Amino acid sequence: MKKTIIALLAACLMPLMALAQNAQEVKSPDGNMLLKFYLEQNGKPTYELSYKGKQVIKPSHLGFKLAKDKHASMKMDEYDLLDEFTLYDAFTNSFDETWQPVWGQYKNIRNHYNELAVYLVQEHEVFTKPENPTVEGLKRHVTKRDVIIRFRVYNDGMGLRYEFPQQENLNYFIIKEECTEFAMTGDHMAWWQTGDYDTQEYPMQQSRLSEIRGLITRCIDPNSGYTPNKMTDAVVWDNASQTPFSPTGVQTSLQMKTDDGLYINLHEAACTNYSTMHLNLDDKNMVFTSWLTPDAVGNMCYMQTPCQTPWRTVLVSDDARDMLSSSLILNLNEPCALDDVSWIHPTKYCGVWWEMIVGRKSWNYTDEFPSVDIYKTDFSTARPNGRHGANNEDVKRYIDFAARNNLSEVLVEGWNTGWEDWACMWKYDVFDFQTPYPDFDIDMLNEYAHSKGVKLLMHHETSSSVTNYERYLEDAYKLMDKYGYDAVKTGYVGDIIPRGEHHYGQYMNNHYLHAVKEAAKHHIMVNAHEATRPTGLCRTYPNLVGNESARGTEYEAFHLTKPDHTVVLPFTRLQGGPMDYTPGIFETDLSQWSDNHNNVHSTLVGQLGIYLVMHGPLQMAADLPENYEKFDDALQFIRDMAIDWDDSKYIDAEPGDYITVARKAKGTDNWFVGGKCDEQGHKVDVKLDFLDAGRKYEATIYADAKNAHYLTNPKAYVITRKTVKKGDVLKMTEAPGGGFVVSIMAK
Ligand code: NOJ
Ligand code: CA
Repeated sequence: MKKTIIALLAACLMPLMALAQNAQEVKSPDGNMLLKFYLEQNGKPTYELSYKGKQVIKPSHLGFKLAKDKHASMKMDEYDLLDEFTLYDAFTNSFDETWQPVWGQYKNIRNHYNELAVYLVQEHEVFTKPENPTVEGLKRHVTKRDVIIRFRVYNDGMGLRYEFPQQENLNYFIIKEECTEFAMTGDHMAWWQTGDYDTQEYPMQQSRLSEIRGLITRCIDPNSGYTPNKMTDAVVWDNASQTPFSPTGVQTSLQMKTDDGLYINLHEAACTNYSTMHLNLDDKNMVFTSWLTPDAVGNMCYMQTPCQTPWRTVLVSDDARDMLSSSLILNLNEPCALDDVSWIHPTKYCGVWWEMIVGRKSWNYTDEFPSVDIYKTDFSTARPNGRHGANNEDVKRYIDFAARNNLSEVLVEGWNTGWEDWACMWKYDVFDFQTPYPDFDIDMLNEYAHSKGVKLLMHHETSSSVTNYERYLEDAYKLMDKYGYDAVKTGYVGDIIPRGEHHYGQYMNNHYLHAVKEAAKHHIMVNAHEATRPTGLCRTYPNLVGNESARGTEYEAFHLTKPDHTVVLPFTRLQGGPMDYTPGIFETDLSQWSDNHNNVHSTLVGQLGIYLVMHGPLQMAADLPENYEKFDDALQFIRDMAIDWDDSKYIDAEPGDYITVARKAKGTDNWFVGGKCDEQGHKVDVKLDFLDAGRKYEATIYADAKNAHYLTNPKAYVITRKTVKKGDVLKMTEAPGGGFVVSIMAK
């Protein structure tokens, strides 16, 4: 009996002892964040995370399933990289530096972390066939494969990545699945978007984790009898390229809040030469697992050692504002790779754009041809349709408007041949990115713009025919050099060519970065629409000044966008980099152009608030010149506003409800304060304790009028001016769907 008990006790203690032997810990510099790593009994890499003593991530496994590679010499890919590891060694390190971004929320960014790198080894017996099987048996090898898992623990979260040193038994390998788990502690509230390999333009959803399946499946399943309601649909079947993959699949960045008030955000940093990560939820156990984007044959990533994965990031705080002020994702990216950044500049722009989006003008020049061949169709003799937006006269009008209103560039979409059948049939040769339509005099218009101190902003809609775009990329950039363009908006509408690839696969992620790197050689800034969601690569390549990569203002014209969308995106989409949200729609009543909706779901002043809440060095004043002229006193804010910052202070924030921020304009003593809220409205006291003591400032306050409402009275606003000083309090009331802005100029 006694013997049995001892044996039983020993059996119970064994895993604990094994765990203790392997366990490694690292804390954040302030001691609040604690990361534990250990190998479970069968050598399964496992980690946990806690914050101020509260569990944030329960024990979660790490590893990969590998694809069977028919080219492999030894059948090493029979063994996944999931378990049977031993801990060879572990290293810790501390790091603290302050660096200066080329542009952004702050002049100085502190990169301060403690690091743990665990060196894991997996050994196997492998048998290979002998050269002469009649005289020899199978050959036995003992092979070993090494993987390093690196954790960086910050005061506001942590990052982890896998590193694969160059080694005999792991040179080339193909990832079938990445199995990084994030085990949640409960059924948290979440702000999420349906996981999809090709679009990120769904409305943001707010629900418990346990409700995700219901919201996605009733939209995916046409037999569910569900009647689509555009205000709540998690899957709206209206995108030119769309591939949802799982009833519990969501995109990153995913924002959550626990019932006891912890904010948790999951995303990734430095996604290069790898596919974009989504998260799939096991909603019985509340465990997320990484879900990569496949290529055309179903593989996730092709790896060659030495190599590493992107960082998997977890932000944690008990204060929602820390989600917005965090620089963790930038810090996990490599320093700037460009020697000369003097040509990268903040850009306020307007453009020949909204009038096409609302259907008043067209991108295409003619309606005459059932199809076009850009090499053969003679546009010079084609009959113009009379609605072409990018014509000399109108572009000059936009240039004049920009020059008068302190906007440095004018985007012109639809300037080049090919738009007649651009978005159909998975067509290869849609554009050559060089041939203007007959009514767009590229030479004259650029000269005209330059004579007024304005530049034209190039547009390359690739129609997702990426091989075609790469074929012309160098010539297209040379054309920009020739005429003095220094920024390009690119677009990836439709299914990708090479056919079968997805927008967020490894192939496309390599393409987006290639385009940015090549652009840098020409001193060109890039603003890529429909490209993969950013992961902080703008630190390394600061000429990546913007991305759309989420549902932007254009959806106000296509369908409806709920007022809380713009107070969710800063918590989610903007974690990896700025968004070209294209706000500033002053004529919120769209009924003159279309009959399927009435107005933009924001007040006019709420549109101004977006410029501050969604920071970025490229901001569009998206409405038409004639609409701005109706509200010239409110346009003054766009004329005055800065878009690059020495400092940013979040005054209050709650995902999906409201955000208020004060930002100090780069290289000046001027401040700009802004707020945006959801359909509930919001009140906030802005204490001006960030101003310099003993100094006076002239404040111009743009507020929603008392009776303003995004649905019934969106254009009602009040502008007041007063002298303010440090310590004064501005009591602001934001209307439902509204916001406010204040410019505070040092006297
Ligand atoms: C989608 C982009 O988001 C939009 O801004 C652009 O006008 C169209 N594609 C055409 O390129
Ligand atoms: Ca809300």
